[in-house]
Amino acid sequence: MPKKTSSTDNERERWNRKYGEVVACTEPRTAPDPFLVRTFSEFVLPAFPKGGSALDVAGGAGRHAIWLAKQGWQVTMIDISEAGVEQARQSAGPVASHIHFVVDDLTRFKAAQMQFANAFDVVMVFFYLERKIFAEILKVLRPGGLLIYKTYTSPQAKLLRGPKNPEHLLKPNELLRLASGLQILQYSEKVSEKAVAELVAKKEI
Ligand SMILES: C[S@@+](CC[C@H](N)C(=O)[O-])C[C@H]1O[C@@H](n2cnc3c(N)ncnc32)[C@H](O)[C@@H]1O
Repeated sequence: MPKKTSSTDNERERWNRKYGEVVACTEPRTAPDPFLVRTFSEFVLPAFPKGGSALDVAGGAGRHAIWLAKQGWQVTMIDISEAGVEQARQSAGPVASHIHFVVDDLTRFKAAQMQFANAFDVVMVFFYLERKIFAEILKVLRPGGLLIYKTYTSPQAKLLRGPKNPEHLLKPNELLRLASGLQILQYSEKVSEKAVAELVAKKEI
């Protein structure tokens, strides 16, 4: 009898295919999002001048985990795509030893189960949205820790490229509401080439 596939299996296969194509056609996408670079100098460095530990949620091919590891941080990255994580491991080179690479399905993420509760100074999420695990993700932050979040918003559906499924698009101010238990340090919503929300927030000490 053919094996039943779940939507998570489909997601894994879709991303494995994409990362496979990137390797076959072009160089892997390694530049970090400029929002991370800006946020790092404006918020992360002043708060953690000696470095710290970070979780990269749905880290893909590792562009953010690798960049942060190069700044002297210990990073754990989780992604469902074996191909993405393998690409991250290959691209990390000498900083691979500062990165803990995890292949896992985040839709079932539980901070305590992973022994991640209060374990990280920074959590970064770029271009991934799974509303049902948002509260669990916040649990991994230590008091004083920073959440850096950037992803697509609903106007993206009208733009040429990018996701169209409302499940993957934030509604106006939704990210602010999801992070309302934190101290909001910076928030914006923009529509240009992409429609995105960007947030930096701090877990109260
Ligand atoms: C748009 S990419 C963003 C990757 C990375 N954050 C970046 O900005 O380069 C979305 C990522 O989410 C991952 N993903 C999708 N569903 C997932 C799940 N259920 N658990 C873990 N990762 C998942 C995909 O494999 C993919 O790497």
